[in-house]
Amino acid sequence: MTAPILKPDDGALERAADTLRGGGLVAIPTETVYGLACDASNSEAIARLYAAKGRPTFNPLITHVAADGMDVREAVWVGLSAGLVASFWPGPLTVVLPFARETGTVSDLARAGLDTIALRQPDHPVASDLITAFGGPIVAPSANPSGRMSPTTAAHVSADMGDKVDLILDGGPCRVGLESTIVSFVGSSPTLLRPGGLDPALIENVLGVKLLKSTDDPDAPTSPGQLLRHYSPKASLRLEAEAAREGESFLGFGAIDGSLNLSPTGDLTEAAANLFTMLRALDGTSTAICVAPIPRDGLGLAINDRLRRAATR
Ligand code: TXA
Ligand code: MG
Repeated sequence: MTAPILKPDDGALERAADTLRGGGLVAIPTETVYGLACDASNSEAIARLYAAKGRPTFNPLITHVAADGMDVREAVWVGLSAGLVASFWPGPLTVVLPFARETGTVSDLARAGLDTIALRQPDHPVASDLITAFGGPIVAPSANPSGRMSPTTAAHVSADMGDKVDLILDGGPCRVGLESTIVSFVGSSPTLLRPGGLDPALIENVLGVKLLKSTDDPDAPTSPGQLLRHYSPKASLRLEAEAAREGESFLGFGAIDGSLNLSPTGDLTEAAANLFTMLRALDGTSTAICVAPIPRDGLGLAINDRLRRAATR
């Protein structure tokens, strides 16, 4: 049975909130990618969510909150963290903080047993209205099976997970198109755990310090979830290509044109928003994809990170 795709009017939001209360799974739009949401305090629901994604259970989830102080009771706002979210929330920034044991409601399973919690306030009216209607934090990993590309439209979610979720809210295509940037405040100095939709340079400007970089070691305790093979198309993927070889379909960028182009004008924001959608489109029609070089600055860091993961077999 395939989940209904609903326009997010008041009735649909109430139905979605009820589904969350009943321990169900609701696919929701955010500004970054579509998320697979459930009640962050309900371990059974979270277990179903891990199962639906086929996600390794050591991979902790991001808790999503609305702008009503839910975040305050879940975490200890150490260091410069509160100032940072004041600048960028709602938005594509996740902060990792010590979990507030006394007041926090988020289940251990959602945090994969860690003493920390990853928090973000999404910048999408459907996501925030749903969290408010539900009345508590939700977890929302990207709404794709583990190891597959993140969905940026309701149709992607329906194709990949339609038989595993209870309900899909259609909020149109995602504006950012890349997951949130994750910064940890747990160590001695703020650390970039995952490049994403918010340029780390903007974060460094506000913090007034350089971010430390986590290693890509999937076993490193500071960066659970940095699984190298994470965003994989079925087709083979060759990076930094100047031209297509026999049998390859070419994903272009800027002046290097292909059968699709991430951004003909060389705009990295546009390229980020197109990345998963265009990779998916080519993945559906060919068994070999090559991608033009993408500059390694600003959002280009996250785009290259996703491409490198997608290319790892
Ligand atoms: O843009 C996004 O953040 C999307 C949309 C749907 O909001 N959500 C998303 O959530 O990407 P999720 O749960 O898939 O993010 C998991 C990432 C992993 O890299 C995981 O290691 C990291 O968040 N993470 C979660 N909790 C953590 C923690 N306590 N410490 C370190 N990393 C953590
Ligand atoms: Mg994901």
